[in-house]
Amino acid sequence: MEPGFWRERWHNGEIAFHRDRFHPALERFWPAITGDPGAVLVPLCGKTLDMRWLAQRGHTVTGVELERRAVEAFFHEWGVDPLERERADGLVELVGADVHLVIGDFFAFRPATAVDGFLDRGALVALPQSMREAYLAHLADCVAPGAQGLLITFEYDTAGMNGPPFVVTAAELGAQPWFGVECLERADATAEYPHLVERGARGLCEIVYRLTRFDRSRGTG
Ligand SMILES: C[S@@+](CC[C@H](N)C(=O)[O-])C[C@H]1O[C@@H](n2cnc3c(N)ncnc32)[C@H](O)[C@@H]1O
Repeated sequence: MEPGFWRERWHNGEIAFHRDRFHPALERFWPAITGDPGAVLVPLCGKTLDMRWLAQRGHTVTGVELERRAVEAFFHEWGVDPLERERADGLVELVGADVHLVIGDFFAFRPATAVDGFLDRGALVALPQSMREAYLAHLADCVAPGAQGLLITFEYDTAGMNGPPFVVTAAELGAQPWFGVECLERADATAEYPHLVERGARGLCEIVYRLTRFDRSRGTG
């Protein structure tokens, strides 16, 4: 997916991926991911309300998003007036209420501090297969060994639709060398995402995984 694809989506307000409340998997599974109020990374964050949920539980949240208007909308809709500053990695971030939203390409992002936890909802599935390995390798570089995160993916019959969001299978996840993968939940998602069913996604399921960053000695990264 080229940056222009996403910029156009934001420009035209075609953001059906955005939920008007936080993802319910957070309440069910986040307490088992990390009990400590440490630093959490949200790659390809859009303006997801999940970041508010995490910040309200004491985490320092860093989101990374290509599109400035998404980042500005996140703070505006929260009623927070952010400060803008340049980061050591050369990208710009808006900061408010312990949420740092970095504007730019995730692949150019370098975390300023060790990241203890991460949330990938709508990030890996936003990328075609040709980009997903590089994405997971970079995510693995960004987080501390042993860090855990939630990954939320979709599966559906690709005869009627083929992303985004793309299908990410358990077999694909099991083949990557950076993270241990544990499936926490698999649920029918046809009622939850009618816009995807309308686009042709038959048999739509949403799957929640726990990822655990292997120690560097076990992975290749
Ligand atoms: C499917 S949306 C999901 C947004 C958010 N995670 C959510 O759940 O609402 C994918 C987002 O990733 C952003 N994006 C795509 N490629 C990116 C990249 N290389 N670096 C940073 N952001 C990117 C897009 O602008 C878009 O907002």
